[in-house]
Amino acid sequence: MTKKRTLTGYRPTGKLHLGHWFGNLQNMLRLQHEYDAYYFIADWHALTSDWQDPSRIRQYSEEMVLDWCAAGLDPDVCTIYRQSDVPEVAELTLYFTMVTPMSWLERVPSYKEQREQVTDKDLGNVGFFLYPLLQAADITIVRADAVPVGEDQLPHLELTREIVRRFNNTYGDYLVEPQAIVPKEGARVPGTDGRKMSKSYGNAIFISDTPDEITAKVRAMLTDPARKLKTDPGDPDICPLHQIHKLVSPDPGDIAQWDACCRAAECGCVAHKTKMAEDLVSYLAGFRAKRAELAAKPGYAWEVLEAGAERVRPVTHEVVEKCRELVGVEPKA
Ligand code: ADP
Ligand code: TRP
Repeated sequence: MTKKRTLTGYRPTGKLHLGHWFGNLQNMLRLQHEYDAYYFIADWHALTSDWQDPSRIRQYSEEMVLDWCAAGLDPDVCTIYRQSDVPEVAELTLYFTMVTPMSWLERVPSYKEQREQVTDKDLGNVGFFLYPLLQAADITIVRADAVPVGEDQLPHLELTREIVRRFNNTYGDYLVEPQAIVPKEGARVPGTDGRKMSKSYGNAIFISDTPDEITAKVRAMLTDPARKLKTDPGDPDICPLHQIHKLVSPDPGDIAQWDACCRAAECGCVAHKTKMAEDLVSYLAGFRAKRAELAAKPGYAWEVLEAGAERVRPVTHEVVEKCRELVGVEPKA
C-alpha cells in the first residue's frame, strides 16, 4: 500500500525557537516515518512580508535546514526542499486565484491581525494578500493528506479545504482536502513574557541559543504575575516557566513537586528558574552537538535542498499537468 502524504513549511524569517520545536517539529519528526513526508522552506512566503529587505532569506533558509536536520529530520527519509525551487507552486496559485472570492481572503484572521499589528513593514502588497492562496497551493501540489502545524495555522488549513472543494466542484474531483495535525502538548508555547512565543515579539528562546543565553532568558522570564513574594501561593497553570519546564523535564515527579511547592508557597521562582534552565540546557545538548557537526560541513544544507527538489519535482509536475487539463488550458489526456 502506498503511504499517505504529509507536508509542512516554515518561513525563513529567523531562527527556530521552542514554539516551533514543540508546536510542530516533534510532530514532523514522528510523521517522517509514518508518511511520505515533504517539508519545505517557504522562501516565497517570507518574501511576501520582507520584500523590501530580502537580504537574509537565503541565510535563514540555510540555517533552518541545519536546525531541522540537527533536530532529527533525516533527508534520506523525508523530502526537504525549497519552495522557490518548485515554480509549479506559482502556477497552481494562479489557478486558485480564479476560484477564490476576494472576500475569503479578506476575512482570514492572520491577514487582518498582521495588517493591524505590523507597523515596520509595508504589507499592503498583493503578494501578502495572496499568502493563504500560496499556502493552499503548497499543500495541494503534493496532494498532502495531513499537515502538521501549530494552532495559529488552523484558519489557513480551513481555507485550503474550502478552495480545494471549490476547485473540485468546478473542474472535477482531483485535489485532496488536507487534515491539520496539531500537537496535544505545546500547541501554543508561551514566550518569556507569557504571550505566544514568536520571533516578532522578542520573547523567544531559540533552540540554537548558547547555554548562557538560555540561562539569562530563563532568569528574566515572567512567572505568575499575581505571585509577588515567595510567601504568595502561585498558579502553575498560568505560569510560562512551569509550562515550558513540563515540556523539557526528564522527570515527571520533579514537575509534580515544583507544582505542589509553588501552589503551597514553599519554594521560590528564582530556585525554579535555576532548575528549569539546567533542564532546558541539557534537553537541547544533543541538538546543539549535532547542529555544530552539520554546520562544519560546508554546503551541506544546499545539497539537502537540491536533492529534495529533485525528489519533489516529479510529484509537482504530475499534479500541475493534471490541473492544466482540468482548467482547460491543455486538452484532456
Ligand atoms: P513565528 O510566529 O515565530 O513567526 P512561524 O509563523 O514561522 O513562527 O511558525 C512556523 C510553525 O511553527 C507553524 O506551524 C506555527 O504554527 C508553529 N509555531 C510557531 N510559534 C509557535 C508557538 N509559540 N507555539 C506553538 N506553535 C508555534
Ligand atoms: N503559513 C505558515 C507559517 O506562517 C508557513 C507555511 C507556508 C505553511 N506554506 C505552508 C505551513 C504549507 C504548512 C503548510 O508558519
